[in-house]
Formats: sequence, C-alpha cells, structure tokens
Amino acid sequence: MTQATASEGILAEENSEQREQIIELLKRGYWMEIETVMSYLANSVNPDGVRAQEIIESLAEDIQEELGHAQKFAERIKELYGVVPGSLEFEAEQSFLQPPEHQTDVVHVIKGVIEAETGAIEHYTRIVETTEGIDPVTQDMVIDILRDEQGHRRLFEGFLREYEAEGLA
Ligand SMILES: [Fe+2]
Ligand SMILES: [Fe+2]
Repeated sequence: MTQATASEGILAEENSEQREQIIELLKRGYWMEIETVMSYLANSVNPDGVRAQEIIESLAEDIQEELGHAQKFAERIKELYGVVPGSLEFEAEQSFLQPPEHQTDVVHVIKGVIEAETGAIEHYTRIVETTEGIDPVTQDMVIDILRDEQGHRRLFEGFLREYEAEGLA
C-alpha cells in the first residue's frame, strides 16, 4: 500500500499537504500572469512617440505569451486537484505599471516591465525550488515559463541600457 501510493508522487494521498502548497504557489503565478496581461495590454497602447514603437510592438507580442502562461498555470492547478480561482479573488499589485503622467515617458514603462518580470522570476524560482524532488512535472513547466520571463527581462534591460547610454534614464 505504501509503495503503491508513493509511486503516485505528488498525486499521492500522503503528499496532499505539499500538493496544497504547490497549488497556492501556482494560483499566485496565475494571478501574476493575468495582471501582467492587463498591464502589457494597456502599455502596448498608451505610449506616444517615435521611440515608443519598439516598446509597443514588443509588449503587444508578450500579451499572448503571458496569457499562455496563465493558461498553463490554470491547467496545472486542475491537474493537482485544485480549482482555478474566480475573478473576485483577484488583487492588483503592479503599482509600477500604471500609466505614467506623460505617455511619452517610455522609461517608466521599461522600468515597470523589468520590475514585473523580476517579480515573476523570483516567484517562479521559488516554485522550482519547492517542487524539487516532489513534483517534477510542475517544475518542468515552470522552468520553461521562467526562461521566457528571463528573456523578457533581458530584452527590456537592453532597452533601458540604450536610454541610460543617452542619459535619459
Ligand atoms: Fe509570464
Ligand atoms: Fe514575461
């Protein structure tokens, strides 16, 4: 009996406490992705000016990718016998990605994106650590997503460098 349940890994009855913990981490990831979709959507439309176009295009592309991440988190919550939360449970946190006072303030958007991606990187790194040795499937999924976020941050760090080099950031 012990052997039979042990072979079920994270789905085993005896691992229900760890499974609940992972589900909570996944829910937080889900909400972070949803809020990022909202923030990137607004910031892919609001910015004005010639220099804003690269940022607009990049964020417009990212919306679909972040939405895909949210879907992956949702599916994994269900696979672990959790329930994907309803919209009333949503609590906004991205104060740094609110529209700037002036819509030509591209640096504000770039820094906000870097902060959002950093938050995701920190949270997903925690999930990778928590799932180590107990839930390789969730870990594998989150490693893929983590790589996407690292790529996003690196791209926007590059944008920021350009502004810094010109003394604009
Ligand atoms: Fe994401
Ligand atoms: Fe991202």
